[in-house]
Amino acid sequence: MCGIVGYVGPLAPSNRPLQVTLEGLARLEYRGYDSAGVALVTPDGLTSAKKAGKLANLREELAERPLPDATVAIGHTRWATHGAPTDANAHPHLSADGRLAVIHNGIIENFQALKAELDGTAFTSETDTEVVAHLLGRAYEETGDLTAAMLAVTPRLEGAYTLLAVHADEPATVVGARRNSPLVIGLGDGENFLGSDVAAFISHTKEALEMGQDQVVTITADDVRVVDADGNPAEGRRFTVDWDASAAVKGGFPTFMAKEIHDQPKAVADTLLGRTDGHGNLILDELRIDESILRSVDKIIVVACGTAAYAGHVAKYAIEHWCRIPVEVELAHEFRYRDPVVSEKTLVVAISQSGETMDTIMAVRHAREQGAKVLAVVNTHGSTIPRESDAVLYTHAGPEVAVASTKAFLAQITACYLLGLYLAQLRGNKYPDEVAGYLDELAQMPAKIQQVIDNEDQIREVARAMKDTTSVLFLGRHVGYPVALEGALKLKELAYIHAEGFAAGELKHGPIALVEEGQAVFFIVPTPRRPLLHNKVISNIQEVRARGARTLVIAEEGDDAVNEFAEVIFRVPRTPTLMMPLVTVVPLQIFACELAGAKGLDVDQPRNLAKSVTVE
Ligand code: F6R
Repeated sequence: MCGIVGYVGPLAPSNRPLQVTLEGLARLEYRGYDSAGVALVTPDGLTSAKKAGKLANLREELAERPLPDATVAIGHTRWATHGAPTDANAHPHLSADGRLAVIHNGIIENFQALKAELDGTAFTSETDTEVVAHLLGRAYEETGDLTAAMLAVTPRLEGAYTLLAVHADEPATVVGARRNSPLVIGLGDGENFLGSDVAAFISHTKEALEMGQDQVVTITADDVRVVDADGNPAEGRRFTVDWDASAAVKGGFPTFMAKEIHDQPKAVADTLLGRTDGHGNLILDELRIDESILRSVDKIIVVACGTAAYAGHVAKYAIEHWCRIPVEVELAHEFRYRDPVVSEKTLVVAISQSGETMDTIMAVRHAREQGAKVLAVVNTHGSTIPRESDAVLYTHAGPEVAVASTKAFLAQITACYLLGLYLAQLRGNKYPDEVAGYLDELAQMPAKIQQVIDNEDQIREVARAMKDTTSVLFLGRHVGYPVALEGALKLKELAYIHAEGFAAGELKHGPIALVEEGQAVFFIVPTPRRPLLHNKVISNIQEVRARGARTLVIAEEGDDAVNEFAEVIFRVPRTPTLMMPLVTVVPLQIFACELAGAKGLDVDQPRNLAKSVTVE
């Protein structure tokens, strides 16, 4: 959480450093929006501005009190951890002499101990970051060099950090450091950039360099120098970003979330692109695991959080069915604390849109320490999880800016299905023509998702009419169960409505007590071509209907059995059971998005949340 931008341009001062930084912050605001701030080095020294609240507040402040032209800039948008979201706690934080500024993403766990050492220093905030500003200020006094100061201070810090620092005496330099928190370098022409992710500089360059753990980088307009914690030269991995700035704008939609819901057919299609070799065999993006090991895998554990975990939950049904390997789905933050049974024959699949979720990173590390191989399903190139994994399957959803995940979810399910088919092919569980058949079904999904989106007006109308609803239940069976959980999560996080998802069969074991006259209940109905499952859900609809509930039903076209018991029916195209989540979740996303909008809430930046949760 927290978005970080750094910029160094030509030595002639201009307003470009500030403009580039503000633009980068706007693209990173999804990472946190409690406060924002910038620091610039100008011919007259260091200057800074910061403001609680969204970036718009900082822009207003800068309009009222403009900052002078500069040569370098750093900027920060905050998701508060230590200290309330106030002006004083906003970043940047300054050294005691006011000549050095630092911004930080992460948590310095030993900041109290370090603060005690700084006895006599006047602190102006409650943050852990200010301690670093003072330590760097002191180190600079001793070394007279910003990189040397960073190298002196970072080994003393415990926890997670991305740090960027500038100093009044170094008008051509930004220095950065990272541990357990992201930092990517953007390689420009006569200018260079730093960012929490590539969105920070995507409108200026697509050429980027990953930074490894515990590395320190010094950028000037013409040079990028990366060193390890001992100051020895280190290599970053260079990559080219495969999307452009237009992918990270609203493109005429009222919100990023609405745009990203409409991006879903493309996200699924792009995730399926180029997955077979010349002989029709499935291939992964990066594979550093011997195929013989994958053949001997006897258990898969999916680790992920939130929506990504629900994607894993969906994938479990397909992978077990196709590969006959037991699949467990574990919330990443629970995984390493319960002493999981993991061996060399366990494949851990880490699913993450950002690739930076700290809970998932820690689960990946724990799994590898136990001898398991880790395969990452991740959307963000250059992020930590793929770098620390043994194999990678990238989802090609493009940048997801809205805090609530939508297109990443569909792309994660698609990628996990590819993984399942890859394993089935490798282990001989499925014949090539069977794999090809499933790939065909997947290839038809973008058009089917589009069909659901084309019917969004009906869903939006129902959502607006329900804007005063205070409680909604979501019920599904089989792959419809994780879809129900996802539908409930979307409504909670966006509309702040109490919502619960249940396995429909669980209803009679307790949750049915919640059902009273007028209680809204969504049902995700399986295809009637699976009569056993379908009939059970129809019975569940009848049970709540009989108790006065309002029933909102997502059912396949032509499934007339639901007509009698449904107050509202959202139709989805005829789809094989395992593919159904890719269409049935879409009405739920549209519903939550529209209802939150109707309540006047900020759909893209719901309260208390941040896009990428980089603290445990
Ligand atoms: C919900 C949502 C979160 C994320 C979760 C994992 O809409 O976005 O639940 O899915 O925080 O994030 P990633 O996928 O970045 O690891």
